[in-house]
Amino acid sequence: MANKQHGFFSHETLEKNIGWMIIASILVVSFAGLVQIVPLFFQHSTTQTVAGVEPYSPLRLMGRDIYIREGCVGCHSQQVRVLAAEVQRYGSYSVAAESVFDHPFLWGSKRTGPDLARVGERYSDDWHRIHLRDPRKVVPESNMPAYPWLEKTVITGENVDQRMRALRTLGVPYTDEEIAAAPKAIEGKTEEDALVAYLQGLGVGMRKAKQAEQAKQAEAAKKAAQSAEQPAAPAATGG
Ligand code: HEC
Repeated sequence: MANKQHGFFSHETLEKNIGWMIIASILVVSFAGLVQIVPLFFQHSTTQTVAGVEPYSPLRLMGRDIYIREGCVGCHSQQVRVLAAEVQRYGSYSVAAESVFDHPFLWGSKRTGPDLARVGERYSDDWHRIHLRDPRKVVPESNMPAYPWLEKTVITGENVDQRMRALRTLGVPYTDEEIAAAPKAIEGKTEEDALVAYLQGLGVGMRKAKQAEQAKQAEAAKKAAQSAEQPAAPAATGG
């Protein structure tokens, strides 16, 4: 019954020959991988900014580097997933365009603490300062480490301009004037100032741009509704 005649290009060649099986598997997986990855290099949604997302100010840039140095990313992600529970808890889900100025990105993969992608302006600066110096003071059950030295360490910002120049080579559009003014902008600031500035900006630009856009649309809709109503209005008052 069985068909004994198999050409070289039959399934049997693969199934009975581990070498060909490995080669074919590698081909299939590589091709599938490329199909997923390559378009991302050219897609606007991953390479272009969205409204409200701007390059980091010098102070926030230093804060970001302190965030990296202290390993905050080991306990905090910065990516709100497309799940109802996450969006309800944190705010709108993250989009790739939010990270175009992040080199390296800090999406993270572990959540010992909450996601921080939308934490900006959720608490006051003072809350963050107290929390960073001793998390237990504001969240008694917290197991986040304290970072009391940040408050006492003034940033020696000699190289903030070099950092900005390095980022410019990666495509962050800092101007010469911005880079020249940067060391002055962080003069006398502590590491805590920088980190708090960084945290307070997370997710804020995009949220505000979105709200402004929504307000504009609501305004336009209201105007359209009003002008549609107008003919009826005189009749109503006349009666
Ligand atoms: C060992 C894990 C761990 C590390 C490291 C860590 N955190 Fe946390 N973080 C937590 C936990 C747990 C919480 C929740 C309890 C609390 O609010 O303290 C938290 C809460 C927070 C919150 C409040 C978030 C919210 O939405 O309420 C902020 C802001 C924060 N961390 C910032 C940082 C920063 C900045 C660093 C690095 C300097 C850092 N964390 C390092 C575990 C960590």
